[in-house]
Amino acid sequence: MILIKSSREIDLIRESCKIVAETLQLVKRNVRVGVTTQELDKIAEDYILSNNARPAFKGYSQAGSFDYPGSICSSIDDEVVHGIPGSRALKEGELLSIDVGVEKNGYYGDAALSVAVGNISPEKQKLMDVTERSLYLGIEQAVEKNRLGEISYAIQFYCESHGYSVVRDLCGHGVGKYLHEEPQIPNYGRKSNGPILKNGMTLAIEPMINMGSYKVFVADDGWTVLTLDGKPSAHFEHTIAIIEGKPEILTKCD
Ligand code: MF3
Ligand code: CO
Repeated sequence: MILIKSSREIDLIRESCKIVAETLQLVKRNVRVGVTTQELDKIAEDYILSNNARPAFKGYSQAGSFDYPGSICSSIDDEVVHGIPGSRALKEGELLSIDVGVEKNGYYGDAALSVAVGNISPEKQKLMDVTERSLYLGIEQAVEKNRLGEISYAIQFYCESHGYSVVRDLCGHGVGKYLHEEPQIPNYGRKSNGPILKNGMTLAIEPMINMGSYKVFVADDGWTVLTLDGKPSAHFEHTIAIIEGKPEILTKCD
């Protein structure tokens, strides 16, 4: 069942999303050669807690693996998503994806961005640019009366037209009362698929786009998702609400 939110609930989701966006910008400003992902995690966690909110990923459980230990996900190069922060220091030219989730007053926000560590190759920069653009093209389709598949199709068409592939094993999702709600939002598929979009839906749209094949696997740590061919992957995510027929980006940073 897709939960439709009242304007009061959307205001609460907006509050969590504001903290998500601010945390992402704070972490992004701290990305540099030599910083470890656990240092970035600490910066994020401190900021979220100082806003009387809770890092939503920490302690999150998923079938078959232990509770997620971080406040952020930090995924480098061939790590697609769900990279666990640790003692690994960032190196020049790496592509880092940072994912942040926040819960405050019982409502959730979720967003991610990819960022270059120092100077990055033009190939990786283009992968990031195309992935980010595909997110906005997907969001443009999040209008009342469209089918969900219009979002999926827009993302897939744009990314594949640049020679990239769309991860199949992971999707975007509804978000708000829970971190993960219905509907699932694949980043690939037909325009005619999925439910009809309605006002009051709150969605986390999150293209995960690979330079090589779409195939991925989960590492022995039970969380980190990696590309099978070892080529880089990029990830961007926003939480949006459909209001008066149109998408409002709740995790936007200004
Ligand atoms: N944005 C990701 C998602 O929606 C992050 C989840 S990390 C987890 O799945 F630990 F919470 F699973
Ligand atoms: Co998400």
